Amino acid sequence: MDTEILQADDEGIARAAEILNAGGTAAFPTETVYGLGGDARNTAAIRRIYTAKGRPEHNPLIIHFADAEDAMRYVEVDPLACELASKFWPGPLTLVLPIRSDSRLSLVASSSYPTLGVRVPSDSVALRLLKTFAGPVAAPSANRSGKVSPTEASHVIADLSGRINAVIDGGPCMHGIESTIVSTQGGQAKVLRHGAIPEEKIIARNMPTPKPAPAESAPMTPGQLASHYAPRSKLRLNAAKPDPSELWLAFGPGCTSAEYNLSNSGNLVEAAANLFALLRSIDEDAVRCGKRAVAVSPIPANGLGVAINDRLSRAAHNE
Ligand code: TXA
Ligand code: MG
Repeated sequence: MDTEILQADDEGIARAAEILNAGGTAAFPTETVYGLGGDARNTAAIRRIYTAKGRPEHNPLIIHFADAEDAMRYVEVDPLACELASKFWPGPLTLVLPIRSDSRLSLVASSSYPTLGVRVPSDSVALRLLKTFAGPVAAPSANRSGKVSPTEASHVIADLSGRINAVIDGGPCMHGIESTIVSTQGGQAKVLRHGAIPEEKIIARNMPTPKPAPAESAPMTPGQLASHYAPRSKLRLNAAKPDPSELWLAFGPGCTSAEYNLSNSGNLVEAAANLFALLRSIDEDAVRCGKRAVAVSPIPANGLGVAINDRLSRAAHNE
């Protein structure tokens, strides 16, 4: 199939909504990363998403809504979830809540899980598309399964051209790292995936501290396996400087000989926004210039650094 490249204007958004209505797949920008959208009530549309990405069907999709009221029609809401939704929506928070028995969503979208990940994005193009379509949109990150998430339309095209119906080009994503996924099961906020909202903003001091999960318990976000986000070249993390056989992905000032720097000023917000785009570029460069690996400078383990280190360690787990 030909993948239509749509402008982020009324015409482009109307065309993407038309594609979603017809059971097709349309990628669109969000404030985190680009998502690959499909009608969450339409099993054929959802299967097209899994096929395009090469994603296993046991990995559920996040469902996107134009507003909190819409989202709450599909899940059982508790007071803590309400509080988090009113604080962070629209924005990069995904809440995992029990799915309502009358939700009428495709069971393939939720992988038949008893819970559903729901999110109201803040990106204006995403919101305009969700309002125009006026229904639940399932949207995983718009990359081939196992690759880094796309933060520009060109990344979506590189991964999925010919496999999806359309992509809306809305420019680079603001945060550049995926939403923070939170469960409120048992009245306690638990971060299931670190993301664009740092954990300390979610788990405020007045909220009860989550109990640590028992070591043997299954991962609660099925997609969060090691070896996710794998580039072709090997990553060596926490490297003070590169060996001659390596390219250097640096962080902060004082790394003037580095080929790439996540943030020259050592700013974690900027580093998160640059992370996936630089991983894609440096990977291509490393392969092109026959470098064995990429040395990555240490990233502070606080604030957004937690999510950045999480993605880097998955990218380094390359097998
Ligand atoms: O920022 C984001 O969240 C982006 C944009 C497009 O919204 N979406 C995204 O989707 O990152 P995806 O599919 O690439 O990652 C969603 C993660 C997966 O690891 C999946 O296993 C987990 O969310 N997930 C989805 N539903 C879940 C549920 N009911 N319980 C636990 N984890 C769930
Ligand atoms: Mg993803």
